[in-house]
Amino acid sequence: MATWSAPGKVFLFGEHAVVYGKPGIAMAIKPRVMVTVRETRYHQKPNSPYIAECFRLMDVKGSVYVRSQLPSSSGLGSSAAVTVATLSAINDEFGLEKTRAEIANLAHQVEMSAQNGRASATDTYVSTFGGMVLVRDNEKRRLLPPQNFSIVIGNTLVSHSTSETIGKVAELRKQSPDIANPILDSIAAITMRAMYNLDNQKELGNLMNMNHALLDALGVGHPVLSKLVLAARSAGAHGAKTTGAGSGGCMYAICSKSSRNRVAGAIEGCDARAIITTIDIEGARKEKDE
Ligand code: MEV
Repeated sequence: MATWSAPGKVFLFGEHAVVYGKPGIAMAIKPRVMVTVRETRYHQKPNSPYIAECFRLMDVKGSVYVRSQLPSSSGLGSSAAVTVATLSAINDEFGLEKTRAEIANLAHQVEMSAQNGRASATDTYVSTFGGMVLVRDNEKRRLLPPQNFSIVIGNTLVSHSTSETIGKVAELRKQSPDIANPILDSIAAITMRAMYNLDNQKELGNLMNMNHALLDALGVGHPVLSKLVLAARSAGAHGAKTTGAGSGGCMYAICSKSSRNRVAGAIEGCDARAIITTIDIEGARKEKDE
């Protein structure tokens, strides 16, 4: 029996644009998914297509037990965390000796096949290695995270499907490339500006607000997301935006230490769930078997 865990993530900048080779910045967060894998003679067919694909790809049979601190289908990378933790636990249980980089690559393959061939490597890379990362095509650049970078996440409790929202943007791009492509280019410019301003929370906040508006323009907004974003800004956040696939799921805000609880309270006041969290730098890790 082997138990591994992997962290969730927030997309700080560049979601959706990253699917088209533009840069994206994401950060691993403290809440995790724990997965226990046990070698068995008969394969227990998992409900999750991600877990099923992990076993298929690694060509082994076993049982699996999942516990999660991450809400699923909420944009916090729970499917990537499940995938990375499952692959890591299979790797350990069956002595396959894959490296961390190989696990990250395999996890990306799993997401690609579960999301109709459209997924950036961001979620799976960040969940495997932890930290803050700039991802663009095959390039992954680890970024020096700013000091005391804590964020407030607001979960709309409206579940969404990542592959459906990716499909929505793909459709807009097909029907109206003259509109969609400049929006994706602007998101890319914002992401690059953010990378050079990670220590300047006010500037980051402005950039987040712009990125949020552009995600709305791409058609992946949701009325509850907009409500939480506005509530967080009114409560004193430097900036707030959708994180992840959108059309529901989560938003995040950055704010000073002194306004953090007020921002979380404003989010909860909208009947949503607030999580105050910070960066995880460990990535996938082995847990003690219970
Ligand atoms: C999902 O967390 C972020 C998207 O950009 C998809 C991806 O990067 O694979 C929408």
